[in-house]
Amino acid sequence: MADWIERERRVFMHVFKRQPVVLVRGEGVRVWDAEGRVYMDLLAGIAVNVLGHCHPALRDAICTQAGQLVHTSNLYYLTPQIELAERLVARSCCDKVFFANSGAEANEGAIKLARKYGKLRRDGAYEVIGAVDAFHGRTLATLAATGQPKYQAPFAPMPAGFKHVPLNDLPALKAATTAETAAVLLEPIQGESGVHLADFDYLRDVRAWCDEQNLLLMFDEIQTGMGRTGRFFAYEHSGAEPDIITLAKGLAGGVPIGAILANERAAVFEPGDHGSTFGGNPLACAAGIATVDTIQREGLVEHAAQVGAYLREQLEGLRARQPLVTTVRGLGLLVAFDLARDVAAELVAQCLQRGLLINNTGPRTIRLAPPLVLREAEVDEAVGILNEALVAL
Ligand SMILES: Cc1ncc(COP(=O)(O)O)c(C=O)c1O
Repeated sequence: MADWIERERRVFMHVFKRQPVVLVRGEGVRVWDAEGRVYMDLLAGIAVNVLGHCHPALRDAICTQAGQLVHTSNLYYLTPQIELAERLVARSCCDKVFFANSGAEANEGAIKLARKYGKLRRDGAYEVIGAVDAFHGRTLATLAATGQPKYQAPFAPMPAGFKHVPLNDLPALKAATTAETAAVLLEPIQGESGVHLADFDYLRDVRAWCDEQNLLLMFDEIQTGMGRTGRFFAYEHSGAEPDIITLAKGLAGGVPIGAILANERAAVFEPGDHGSTFGGNPLACAAGIATVDTIQREGLVEHAAQVGAYLREQLEGLRARQPLVTTVRGLGLLVAFDLARDVAAELVAQCLQRGLLINNTGPRTIRLAPPLVLREAEVDEAVGILNEALVAL
C-alpha cells in the first residue's frame, strides 16, 4: 500500500486529500483494499454507486455494450442514447435531454441554456441567481455558480453573471432579481456543504416567482437524483417542477456521464449551440439504462426512503447516547450529522481503521450517501462502528 501512495505522490497533481487506503475491488456495499481488508462503503463514490459495487446487471450491460460498440461520436444516431433519454423523459417533468460526461459539464450546459433563453425570451438577460453554500462544479462557470468563496478565490476573477442569495430566503431572491436575471439555479438539498435541505414551501414559492418573472428554474439534482432521497428526483418531494434538471453521479451507476434535462420552454438549443465528443456515448448510456432499469426493477427508490428513515432513526439513537453528535438531518439516503467539536476528520479516520468509509464535508459535519441497496442489518453494523469510533475520539 505504502508503495502505491509513494508512486502516486511522484506523478499525480495533489488536488485530492485522499484517505490512506488503496481500494481494488467491490461488491454490494463493501470494498476491499490492496491488502485484502474489507470496508463497508457508506459514501458510494460520493453518491455515485447507487446500485452498490459491481451489480451484476450493470456489469453485464457494460460488458455486452463493450463487445458491440464503445464509441462512435454524435455525428450518428445511437440507440442506447435514445433509449436512456426516453427513460429520463418518462420519469421526469422534462421533455428533452442532452448528455455530457460529468456534473460540472451538465451544469455548464444548463447555464448556456439559461443564457440563450435570456437572449431569446427575456431581452438579453444572462444572470443566474444561485444559493449561498451551493456546489455546482469545478469548471470556471460552475465555480462562479458555486456560492463558496473558498473554491473561487485562487482562480479569480470569476466569469460574470452569477449572484448568490441565502437558501430558503424568498425576499432575498426577489430583491436580487433584476432585468438581467435569466434563471435561478438551486440544489433541492445542498450535498457538498453538508446536506442542507431547501424548504419545500420555498421551492414552490421560487417556482411561482420564476413563472411571474419569466425566469427559468434549474435544479441541480446531480447528488439528489436517481432515487437517492426516496423519490426518483428530489424535486418530487416539493411538487415544484423545474424547467431544467442536471444529473450526473448515480445516473450510470459509476460510469462517467452527465445529463441536462429541459422542458419544451427551456430547450432552446439549436444545431451548433452545444456539443460533446464523448457525451452520451454508447458505453455510458448502456450503463445508464441498466442503472435506471435496475432501480425500477428492485424498487430502490422506495427502498432508499425506508432504509434512509431507518438510518436517521439509528443515528438519532446514537445522538441520544453520544453527546458529541448534535444534529442529524437528511432525506432518503442522503444524510448528515454534526459534531459538537472540530473532530469530523478524526472520526473519518477512526471509522476507516474499523472498516467503515464515511466522509466529512466540514470540520464538524459527516455526510453519508450509501448505495441505495443498503439493508437495515448493514445500517446496524455501520452505526455500531460509528459508536465505537466516537467513543475512541
Ligand atoms: C450538486 C452537485 N453539482 C455538481 C457537482 C459536480 O459534479 P462533477 O464532480 O461530476 O463535475 C457535484 C459534485 O459533487 C454536486 O454534488
